[in-house]
Amino acid sequence: MPVRKAVLPAAGLGTRFLPATKAVPKEMIPVVDKPGIQYAVEEATRCGIEDILIVTAPGKEAIADHFAASERLEAQLRSVGKNDELALVRSLSELADISFVTQTEPLGFGHAVSLASEYAGDEPFVVMVPDEIVPEPLEHEVEPLARMIEVFDERKAAVIVVQEVPGEEISAYGVIEPGESWGDVVEVRRIVEKPRAHEAPSNLAARGRYIFTPDIFDALARTPGGIGSEIQLTDAIGLLAAEPQGCLAFVYAGTILDVGKKIDYLRASVELALRREDLSKPFKEYLMERARSLEP
Ligand code: UTP
Repeated sequence: MPVRKAVLPAAGLGTRFLPATKAVPKEMIPVVDKPGIQYAVEEATRCGIEDILIVTAPGKEAIADHFAASERLEAQLRSVGKNDELALVRSLSELADISFVTQTEPLGFGHAVSLASEYAGDEPFVVMVPDEIVPEPLEHEVEPLARMIEVFDERKAAVIVVQEVPGEEISAYGVIEPGESWGDVVEVRRIVEKPRAHEAPSNLAARGRYIFTPDIFDALARTPGGIGSEIQLTDAIGLLAAEPQGCLAFVYAGTILDVGKKIDYLRASVELALRREDLSKPFKEYLMERARSLEP
């Protein structure tokens, strides 16, 4: 069965981004001029996925509003002849077929994924963490999710994406023990959530894109609450890796931008602004001038 569906867990508390996230969902914080979650929806559609489930939480209604049609705003823009803006607003509600499920308590990333079981039915699906932005690839770059879908189509096993991470940062991630490898794909023997640097089984850290078959729901059901008693997706992936069909990782050397932490958010904003045709020139000039003023 082809991969047609994507699940975007967006029900977390976003405590690392307080105070902004007190009243505004983390996923709605703009990165340049779009809410972070819009980048994930656009990435899905670039890979041919237009059926999307967003896992949301009470108080995060702004996410659904962002992707819904707004007759009032559209009528106002039309009446003042703001046609470009009207087209922009309209395009949001036409981007994809988006449905929502509510996670009433923040019981963890893994729990949020488990709420997608009815939506997935018997189909494989993608999980995309909206805190991680994969910019539209430049000419020489691959689209990581598209490559993962290719690997899934060939091998029919769960596929995650991993990146090489420097030693001092490895403890922030789920880290794989790689087995056999085939070019840019490696077998996942084991995965450890947030290991101490000297205990990490490799420097390959899982990032926020996954392809699962519905087997993940059974694995999640067998996963006890892990660190901080939240149900961790990493633990369920570990169970899949131990089963005969196994789990594969696509080793990606390109750009994935984290926006869930303040310093990473700042870096991501700079990176995305530099990739924008309409902004890159004046923004680069400003950055260079600013860098010169910072020199000792
Ligand atoms: P994070 O680990 O970033 O947690 O979740 P968080 O709560 O959003 O943020 P912090 O750590 O408090 O700053 C990874 C992804 O899983 C979702 C989040 O919305 C984010 O996209 N998530 C997390 C849920 O959907 N539900 C949860 O209970 C926890």
